[in-house]
Order: sequence, then C-alpha cells, then structure tokens
Amino acid sequence: MTSNGISEDGEAKGAFDAARGIRVGTPTVVLLPDLGAENARDAGARLDEAVGLSAAIALDVVHSEIVKVRSPRPATLFGTGQVERIAATVAAAEAQLVVIDGAVSPIQQRNLEKELKAKVIDRTGLILEIFGERAQTSEGALQVELAHLNYQASRLVRSWTHLERQRGGFGFLGGPGETQIETDRRLIRDRIAKLRRELEDVRRTRGLHRARRQRAPFPVVALVGYTNAGKSTLFNRLTGASVMAENLLFATLDPTMRSIRLPGFDKVILSDTVGFISELPTQLVAAFRATLEEVLEADVIVHVRDVAHPDSDAQHGDVSRVLRDLGATDTPEAAPLIEALNKVDLLLKDQRESTLEQAARADDAVAISALTGEGLDELQELISATLQRSARVYEYDLGPEEGARVAWLYEHGDVVSRRDEEGRTHLRVRMSEEARARFERRPA
Ligand code: GTP
Repeated sequence: MTSNGISEDGEAKGAFDAARGIRVGTPTVVLLPDLGAENARDAGARLDEAVGLSAAIALDVVHSEIVKVRSPRPATLFGTGQVERIAATVAAAEAQLVVIDGAVSPIQQRNLEKELKAKVIDRTGLILEIFGERAQTSEGALQVELAHLNYQASRLVRSWTHLERQRGGFGFLGGPGETQIETDRRLIRDRIAKLRRELEDVRRTRGLHRARRQRAPFPVVALVGYTNAGKSTLFNRLTGASVMAENLLFATLDPTMRSIRLPGFDKVILSDTVGFISELPTQLVAAFRATLEEVLEADVIVHVRDVAHPDSDAQHGDVSRVLRDLGATDTPEAAPLIEALNKVDLLLKDQRESTLEQAARADDAVAISALTGEGLDELQELISATLQRSARVYEYDLGPEEGARVAWLYEHGDVVSRRDEEGRTHLRVRMSEEARARFERRPA
C-alpha cells in the first residue's frame, strides 16, 4: 500500500474503500459555511439536507451548525476564532469526522484536519461517499470509483508543490519523496485507464440490452425528482412492490423498473431513478448517466415534487436544469413531462388549497400524496392520457404476402386488436409517430 491506500498491483479493489476510510457510526460534526452569497436556499434547510446526507451513510451526527463566513480564508476557510471554537466543539463531542457542506480546497482540508484533529470532507467528498455506498449496478460502481479517483488525483496534483517542499524539495532530483507521489499518481492514472476500459465494456453490453428492451412495445414512464421527494413511495404505491422506501436520501440509486397497468394500457414500464441534489459536482452527473439515461428513453417523465419542502421551487429549478442538460426536455424528441405535486397531506389549509388550484389550472400537473394515496387515480389517468397522446393507434389491412410487415408491427408496436378475414390481416396498432413513419417507409 502507498500513502494513498492504492495497492501496488493496480487491481486495488480495496483501494477505493481504504481511501474512503469512513465507517458506519462515526461521530460526526456537520458544518454549513454560510457565505452570505445570493443563495436561493434557506440556510436551515441546506443544513438539514447536509445532516440528512450524512445520516444516509449512517454517520452519527453529534452536532451541526451554520457557520457565517464573511470572507473565506484561503488557509482554513473559517476565521481563526471560529476554527478554535469548532475545535473545542469537535473535542467536546469526541467527533472523528467533520463534514463541511461546501467546497473546501486541499490546503484548507489539510489545515483544518490538523487544527480540528479530525478527518474533514467537503460536499463533493460526502456525495462521493453516498454514491459509493449506494451504487449497485456494475456501471454505477465503476463510474463512482472513477469520479472518486479523479477527485483524489486532482487533490494530489494540486498539493504537489506543497508536498514536495515538505519532503525536502528533492523532487527535481528524483528523490524518494517524488517517487512516492509519482507512484501514487501513476497508480491512480493506471486505475483510471483500466476503469475507463471496463466502463466501455459495460456500456456496450448495456447498449445491447437497451436495444432489446426498446423493441418491446411497452411505453416507459420514468419517475424523477429531488432526493426525498417521494419517488420510491410513489413507485411502491403504483407497483405494489416494496422497493426500499425510507427516510434516507438516495434510497434509490440504480434504475428500478417494474411493469404496471394503467387505464387503457396492459403493460407500462415504470422506472424509478436516482434522486437529484443541488450543486451536484459535474463529474458525478456523468457518474450517474446509467440511471439518468433511462429518462432519455421514457415516453413520459413524471417529475415528483415535495411541495411541502421550504425549497420546493429551488429544487424544481435544479431538477429542470439537469433534465435540460441531459437533453431530456426542451428538444423536439423530448418526452412529455408531468408534475406530481407530492406530500399535499403535509400542507396547511391555505397552502393546500392553492396547490390544488395550481394543479387544477395546469393540464400537466396533479396534486398527490404518495403516502395517503390521494390523487393517485388522477395521476394514473393523466399518465395514460399523455401516453395516448404521444402514441397513437393506426390501422392497417395487410395481405397474405405481408407476413413480415405483420411481424414488424408486433415487434415495434402495441397491437390493440387483430381480425383475420379471407387471408387478410386487419390490425390496430398503437405506435409512436416515429415507428409509424418507419413502418410506412418500409417496402411493401
Ligand atoms: P431518494 O431515494 O433519496 O431519491 O428519495 P425518494 O424521492 O425516493 O423519496 P422516498 O420515497 O424515499 O420518500 C422520502 C420520505 O418522504 C419518506 O420518509 C417517505 O415516507 C416520505 N413521503 C413520501 N411521500 C410522502 C407523502 O406524500 N406525504 C408524506 N407526509 N410523506 C411522504
């Protein structure tokens, strides 16, 4: 093992785990640096989210607070007095880990670790921990590891001069200090290259699976939403399945799919996706493409919103932005989007009435409670109606010589009815506009 926990053989199964080094139940202090910038979010709610994220990986949060930072100090982020006070809190609570819900530079991290006598991680580090813990598909796990190594590598590179000096400045002579860091960097680089190759393989296989599924004539409905919005609860309600639903963030990281019946549809695939969060580091958006890509194939996207959350609007903005960046909305091919205004059971009378009115006015929104079941019939009707609008039923009368075309329609469409008469086949098929166009371009 080298200083970064990367084993020499490059296989490094344990490397990633060792580098994470955070254990269940670690006594943890959570700090939210409030930089006073125009942040649309309420600082209290942001702190709650950070505590929730920490609890999601079973850290034992013993203290949490908002720390006002007037001008961030390059060396320690917080002011000298603040650092002393925090150190006393950490000592009194016997905390071993300090989570800082913001960006912390490698230098600040190192200095703070020294002053606070505890391990320090920032928001990206925390999210990486969560993603690392919850990623279950092989692609998810590989992508998280890749993101984590890239994060580590950037810290190693940036702290290069600092470490070099610390090791006596022999770096340029090829001294032992340099060799050590070079080894770490090379191992990380090799591991990253290997992961990239593995990812390519996994992607190729997944592409094949998807091609197969795409041919299945079932519409796909994807649930998206901010973390803790209630996607899993809704998914369970609609499917009758008991997919893990708990008051844990990121209970659903990997795509979960089930088939359900909806009015007018015998079979619809419902897919639950990873929860979104604000300030998701860009490397991580890539790390979760496997899940998010499901959204690109959906025929209808249902955006589940927690309307009882104080930052509901900001969360809505975040989810919408990510969906747009992915190309899942605002493009000609984009699937229609429905909003499920969830948790109405938690609203006070006035808020509740205005939410119900808002939903009644919009033709693409429904007020629901995934918990009590309120509004779910209406939601299912709206999904059906939207699906029906986006895929229409076409009628064909095919001759005995057109067996291949009949087979094509079975493969690419949803055959609603069939009548065989005097050798001719009369089919009514529900298909997307795109499938219809392809069918009609085929030679007779
Ligand atoms: P991630 O997996 O983090 O993305 O969360 P999620 O969107 O799947 O949320 P989940 O279904 O796990 O619900 C989060 C919490 O909200 C749980 O404690 C649910 O019981 C609760 N919840 C979900 N829907 C409702 C609702 O309609 N009303 C109330 N009161 N609570 C709800």
